[in-house]
Amino acid sequence: MVHIFIVLTLLIKGFCSFENPGAFLPFEYNEPFSLPVKKTPSLYKGCDNTTKFIVGIISHPSEFDFRNFIRNNWGAPAYRNCRTTKLIFLMGNSDDLEMDKQVEQEANRYSDVLLLDYYESYNLVARKVFGFFRYVNQSCPNVKCVLKGDSDTVINLTGMEKLCEIMPDNNLTITGYYGWDKPLRDLQSKWYTPYFVYPIKTWPSLVSGFSYLLSGYGIVPRLMNTLETKTSFFTSENFRRLWEDILFTGIVRDLSEIPLVHNTGFHWGNKPDYWWHEGKRIILALETRTDCTESCSTEYAWNLVQANRRENNFSTFSSYECHLQTLREVPDFRNSIGSSLVRSQARNL
Ligand SMILES: *[C@@H]1O[C@H](CO)[C@@H](O)[C@H](O)[C@H]1NC(C)=O
Ligand SMILES: *[C@@H]1O[C@H](CO)[C@@H](O)[C@H](O)[C@H]1NC(C)=O
Ligand SMILES: *[C@@H]1O[C@H](CO)[C@@H](O)[C@H](O)[C@H]1NC(C)=O
Ligand SMILES: *[C@@H]1O[C@H](CO)[C@@H](O)[C@H](O)[C@H]1NC(C)=O
Ligand SMILES: *[C@@H]1O[C@H](CO)[C@@H](O)[C@H](O)[C@H]1NC(C)=O
Repeated sequence: MVHIFIVLTLLIKGFCSFENPGAFLPFEYNEPFSLPVKKTPSLYKGCDNTTKFIVGIISHPSEFDFRNFIRNNWGAPAYRNCRTTKLIFLMGNSDDLEMDKQVEQEANRYSDVLLLDYYESYNLVARKVFGFFRYVNQSCPNVKCVLKGDSDTVINLTGMEKLCEIMPDNNLTITGYYGWDKPLRDLQSKWYTPYFVYPIKTWPSLVSGFSYLLSGYGIVPRLMNTLETKTSFFTSENFRRLWEDILFTGIVRDLSEIPLVHNTGFHWGNKPDYWWHEGKRIILALETRTDCTESCSTEYAWNLVQANRRENNFSTFSSYECHLQTLREVPDFRNSIGSSLVRSQARNL
């Protein structure tokens, strides 16, 4: 009798939950989750205990040009002799062995790649961001700010450092382009989400994934703890297939009771918008692909950011941009400007 009941229940459940899984799995898959690391960024390029700000850029193995563009342009200050802001790239395996070999060479050459051992696809990006946060949780004990960016986003690193400085040290927040959205139930959509994966009508408030800033000491350990204790991330493959911004800036952030801050300085579609700060308009991040009909290149976005750099007398990269450093660590800065000015500037940032 009990058996018949179970069979019937399963059958009914089976019929009723017949829903196209899209890019999700039709049935839950509960194998233990593991995400081995193939290569960790070296201490010099990655975090050490003096790192205050770490930037992690999502990049597909094929995007060699994007990565070099970032290394040579907006990301360059993080490669200077500046030890408190760092930039690393986050990658997995492609399905092309030759390309993977090149990526390993690149990782050895630049020492700025966190290489994770999984096969990349659009629905698996959340695990890459998890790999980043796990790295920060383990290796960046003193970071105040963690920025996640996409490879096609141009970021004003100086502006982000300034934003980081004015955010409270101990109140945790996530700042970005605010979006409050519903799961899409249209199978054709890139963001199709079946009801059996997420039955609720709306996502928690979230910010768009092209670039967002986590701020406050201890924010990543807090998110990691929530992930372990309050979500099914480690047991549900379908949960891990949710989009990274929804998962981390929406669901996990909400469960961690961390507020969101909308900042118009983050913008997509290569349309500049500004963060107004102390009477100045500041572009923080420009995404260059979505909804963009003209001038959609990262070069174009970089020109916008650069033009303003000139106005601000940052003609070349300099230790000006390392202002999160203590004076002791920036001898050049002190020598050229004078320590009192440096100190008062640092306070006003
Ligand atoms: C930071 O790390 C270095 C090298 O690992 C160590 O010598 C130093 O004591 C550490 N500093 C602090 C403040 O933990
Ligand atoms: C984060 O760090 C804490 C403290 O070291 C550790 O207990 C925890 O397992 C880490 N979480 C992850 C996901 O690595
Ligand atoms: C980038 O940020 C710096 C520092 O806040 C600011 O002076 C500069 O104007 C910003 N650049 C743009 C293009 O907004
Ligand atoms: C930090 O959060 C507390 C509680 O929400 C609030 O009272 C306080 O004003 C916040 N501090 C800052 C610097 O934002
Ligand atoms: C940049 O330098 C010029 C010439 O020294 C100066 O007149 C101008 O005020 C400076 N601009 C800023 C934003 O500091």
